[in-house]
Amino acid sequence: MQADLEIVVKHEVPLIITSLGAVSELIQSVHGYGGLVFHDVIMKRLAQKAAAAGIDGLTLVSAGAGGHAGTINPIALVGEIRSFFDKTILLAGCISTGQDVAAALQMGADLAYTGTRFINTTESEALPEYKQMIIESSASDVIYTAAISGVPANFLRPSLEQMGITEEMWEKTVDVDFGNELIANDEAKAWKTIWSAGQGITKIGDSPKTSILVARLRKEFKIAIEIQSKLLA
Ligand SMILES: Cc1cc2nc3c(=O)[nH]c(=O)nc-3n(C[C@H](O)[C@H](O)[C@H](O)COP(=O)(O)O)c2cc1C
Repeated sequence: MQADLEIVVKHEVPLIITSLGAVSELIQSVHGYGGLVFHDVIMKRLAQKAAAAGIDGLTLVSAGAGGHAGTINPIALVGEIRSFFDKTILLAGCISTGQDVAAALQMGADLAYTGTRFINTTESEALPEYKQMIIESSASDVIYTAAISGVPANFLRPSLEQMGITEEMWEKTVDVDFGNELIANDEAKAWKTIWSAGQGITKIGDSPKTSILVARLRKEFKIAIEIQSKLLA
């Protein structure tokens, strides 16, 4: 961590994203050269801690997000954190289209943050089987469990089943022995052979080039805002 921070400071990396604990020492070091630090949070208490540490922006990882998702509805989460945090708020979780980006801004976020949608791009190095599973699965195929990596995260049910992991195993929530009982005691395995995705897969039906996807997101965003402004008229 210390060595990583030294490299960050040496190269004056303009934007740092942290998760699992906002560290004021890191924030001060990055502020020292004029950089910004954004931090992932899933609930108000963690957002308050990060705000007290001097964070510049908060990524609110709401229910249904890919990876280490939260459990709180995005509308509630943005409302709760906006009430005391007036710096940059990014909303994460199930944002797959330009219309979803517009919805995030409507809820009160400054920016939208998207992960799962970009697994299905030609540039992404995810296995073809992983991308195909995302196309074929629906929101109810996303399983939220701590039994795989020790921290609650969302994984694709068919990939759990493919690895011989049963519902009884992924529903195990109590007294997990982090040394021995985790299904993926090598953390990397949790992401390499047991595949994570968010509930936003329900709107993913292809794997385009990133440039094409971004152009589509822009177009959808514009249409969504135009429809909203027509409501005013
Ligand atoms: C396969 C996968 C791996 C992820 N790995 C990380 C990670 O290492 N660190 C992190 O802070 N967030 C990680 N995330 C979460 C994303 O940064 C982001 O918050 C999330 O994907 C947004 O929700 P969405 O997937 O519904 O768009 C990961 C997400 C996915 C799908």
